[in-house]
Amino acid sequence: MRPSGSPDFSLSYWKGETPANPAETSAHKTLKLIESMKHTVTLIPGDGIGPEVSEAVQKIIAAAGVQIEWEPTAARGDLERRGVDFMQSGVVESIRKSGVALKGPLATGVASGPPSINVGLRKALDLYANVRPVKNLPGVQSRFQDVDMVLIRENTEDLYAGLEHEVVPGVVESLKIITERASTRIARFAFEYARKWKRKRVHGIHKANIMKMSDGLFLSSIRKVAAEYPEIEYKELIIDNACMQMVLNPRQYDMLLLTNLYGDIMSDLAAGLVGGLGVVPSANIGEKVAIFEAVHGTAPDIAGKGIANPTALLMSAMMMLVYLGEDEAAGKIEAGLHKVYREGKSLTRDLGGSATTHDFTDAVIRSLDS
Ligand code: NAI
Repeated sequence: MRPSGSPDFSLSYWKGETPANPAETSAHKTLKLIESMKHTVTLIPGDGIGPEVSEAVQKIIAAAGVQIEWEPTAARGDLERRGVDFMQSGVVESIRKSGVALKGPLATGVASGPPSINVGLRKALDLYANVRPVKNLPGVQSRFQDVDMVLIRENTEDLYAGLEHEVVPGVVESLKIITERASTRIARFAFEYARKWKRKRVHGIHKANIMKMSDGLFLSSIRKVAAEYPEIEYKELIIDNACMQMVLNPRQYDMLLLTNLYGDIMSDLAAGLVGGLGVVPSANIGEKVAIFEAVHGTAPDIAGKGIANPTALLMSAMMMLVYLGEDEAAGKIEAGLHKVYREGKSLTRDLGGSATTHDFTDAVIRSLDS
């Protein structure tokens, strides 16, 4: 068994070995094998373009031969009309049961309205590690080529603890919570990830020159963990310098380890260097469950027009397939996707093409077998 809290993209690590039963016939074994090849995944199609891109991804996964029993959540609009809060609609229970969810974007009000469901799900399921690989897609115009880095963001605390209050009228306070436990846990995750995926360097990103206690605790926790991984180089950078370095020379980064807010900002900054949020995946990993999601928004300006680009959700789904042990199917989809991008004939409008979501999806499916 791997240490708890370690990143895990192979199902065999999660599940214990089943002892062999000598009375079992080969038919039983075959049936069991077929059963074990079928996965149950909670599907949160999301708002706006969410249902369109989710449907595209479901089609591609099915065409790649992966058997998934999808458990779709109810549409938020329908729930709201019935006065049911999305978080109370059984979504958390469904993910706990299936262990895995694929999620489209969900709309969140700015400066008012209920708290973000994205943050709510991460908290309810203790999805403490946000994993954001950032890499060029062949054929996609971007500021830099040969970028290949992974940002690991602590997902449960920092300013996202949601502890805000009005001290007196005109003065509000927002609490930045950093704990040794969460910092150590995310550091362990990052270094285990580096070891498993043969990454060479981790940069701890901070502002401990100003926030000496909170970011200081984050750093001291990382340093203790880093000492256990001598084969992985560990460096530290102050967040402002780290951002400048990122736009000057992103190739110097291999992995970045960040607290929640810095991670949120820097992962979008990094995505911008390779073509934006439409072409990068994201995963939220906990001890027992994981949610794979597109990090772009609901795109209300193009929702319902059939022109949304499903690439980001598809790439997140590829991470999900690896997590489920379906490495081969994930590799097949990746090769197909790269082919479509290299050819550049079926690109959606956001990337300068004129293909519809449907055209793009069909092109990826056709390229799976070639
Ligand atoms: P947005 O990402 O929805 O849109 C920004 C621009 O990118 C728009 O022009 C949109 O058409 C385009 N775009 C985004 N995804 C696209 C795709 N897959 N294909 C083609 N074009 C795409 O960001 P915005 O407008 O700031 O947010 C809209 C809503 O989305 C808000 O309610 C926000 O709270 C929510 N949101 C949800 C997220 C999530 O659930 N993870 C993340 C970011 C925003």
